[in-house]
Amino acid sequence: MTETLVVLTRTIPRAGRDILEADGCRIEVVQPDAERAVDHAAILDAVARADVLLCLLTERIDAAVLNAGVRLRGVANMAVGYNNIDISAASAMGIPVSNTPGVLTDTTADLTWALLLGIARRIVEADQYMRDGKFRLWGPELMMGADVGPGADGRQKTLGIIGYGRIGRAVARRAAGFDMRVIAFSPGHVGVADDGTAFVALDELLEQSDFVSIHAPSSPATRALIGAPQLARMKRTAYIINVARGDIIDEVALVHALRNDIIAGAALDVFEHEPAMADGLAACTNALIVPHIGSASFDTRNRMAAIAATNALAHLHRSHAPDVVNPDVYQATAYSARMDRLA
Ligand code: GLV
Repeated sequence: MTETLVVLTRTIPRAGRDILEADGCRIEVVQPDAERAVDHAAILDAVARADVLLCLLTERIDAAVLNAGVRLRGVANMAVGYNNIDISAASAMGIPVSNTPGVLTDTTADLTWALLLGIARRIVEADQYMRDGKFRLWGPELMMGADVGPGADGRQKTLGIIGYGRIGRAVARRAAGFDMRVIAFSPGHVGVADDGTAFVALDELLEQSDFVSIHAPSSPATRALIGAPQLARMKRTAYIINVARGDIIDEVALVHALRNDIIAGAALDVFEHEPAMADGLAACTNALIVPHIGSASFDTRNRMAAIAATNALAHLHRSHAPDVVNPDVYQATAYSARMDRLA
């Protein structure tokens, strides 16, 4: 019997590697240096030997990679978002693709709130002020920020959530603790959600919200959904938070809005051309910026690795992967033809 090979584009947390090793499959890591990106050419080369490819959101798994994967039985992405993978090409080639949904919902919602509170109350700026030795005297106008709860003016603040899936809803649940009014924009949804959140049009959400938080997947429909005209619709006192995908906001337009006080601030976990940032963003003191750490708790990242590995083994053993994102593939002739050829 020939040994099966799982190709990992980059290293994953221990919990995932343990599951693969316990199954006895061979593991090859294309880029073992955790600080370095993987060359597309190196993936093309390695995937030709792979029975299963386990990849991260940093890798572009396009038709060329899938085509080069002549032995591929499946692709397991260690992320909930899978915009890095050409799903229609995979389906056409009979390749199941899986992701890691659910497990990171709370962790990502928690980070959303850390960012929301952090930008409203200027936590990072205040921390830097201390470290720079600038705190000589308390003053009544020192580091004044914005209320998240009703606060001094007693006005209930509005949280507008763009994309009302698992993470959007978890963010909304946390808003109850701040006595906020929650509204949401989610294409195809109207009326009131079962948790009481009212669905509104995007323009209405932008105009009414004190905080706009993005939780939509990246797709042709959401690319640059928030550009200059949308930022101009927001209140000048409002903040925008993005923990979803960077390309949902036109980052150049955002920098312009931040520099010209068109909005009060932005807190970003994701970037349009990640890991690069738009010119000028790093200099905006009304921006809080972190390096795509939405799901980065120790437990969640290990669990994501374990889920990705479990899906990888399902692909390897030709069983229905628990988190397949293109389930129709199992009924497609392209899938049975591929599996027959690989038998
Ligand atoms: C993180 O961004 C993910 O999609 O898991």
